[in-house]
Amino acid sequence: MKRIILIGYMGSGKTTVGRALGKETGLPFYDLDWYIENRMRRKVSQIFAERGEEGFRQIERNMLHEVAEFEDVVISCGGGTPCFFDNMDYLNQQGQVVYLRCEPEVLRRHLLMGKGDRPLLKGKSPEELIDFISQQLEQREPYYTKARYTLDVSLMDNYEKIKITIDKLKELLEL
Ligand code: S3P
Repeated sequence: MKRIILIGYMGSGKTTVGRALGKETGLPFYDLDWYIENRMRRKVSQIFAERGEEGFRQIERNMLHEVAEFEDVVISCGGGTPCFFDNMDYLNQQGQVVYLRCEPEVLRRHLLMGKGDRPLLKGKSPEELIDFISQQLEQREPYYTKARYTLDVSLMDNYEKIKITIDKLKELLEL
């Protein structure tokens, strides 16, 4: 049974890599945010607006416990998922967890291209963004680095690099 779980900061490419890895391995791919949105019939940003971050984290935890029971799947988590409750220990119990590590500057570049629907980044200027990312990443790294595997994806930008990342993951996870 294979259960591959991708974690990392917003903008690190968890969804892109997860989808590609799913295709490559033939395993169904689940993105936790999409799963939450489907089950709740609400966008993540709506859940934040209606229930606050605390409400969102509770729902996220509950949904994580559904998705991470599925067998033979690739799962990508939200950037904050490993950092609340005992989620990180639970993830490590449930599968092969990979931390996709990425430099703050690269994260900023990715996030500036598509930060529209990320409640935590709402209203931040490009200048504020780099400080916010650096600080939050520092707080979150102690959780992320509990993952069994770490892969640096700072260089992952275009198609060729995604392909290289997938090849590295296959080697790392013995797929
Ligand atoms: C969050 C990351 C988001 C989403 C929510 C909170 C975070 O997921 O779960 O907006 O706390 O880092 P992505 O990492 O997929 O953007």
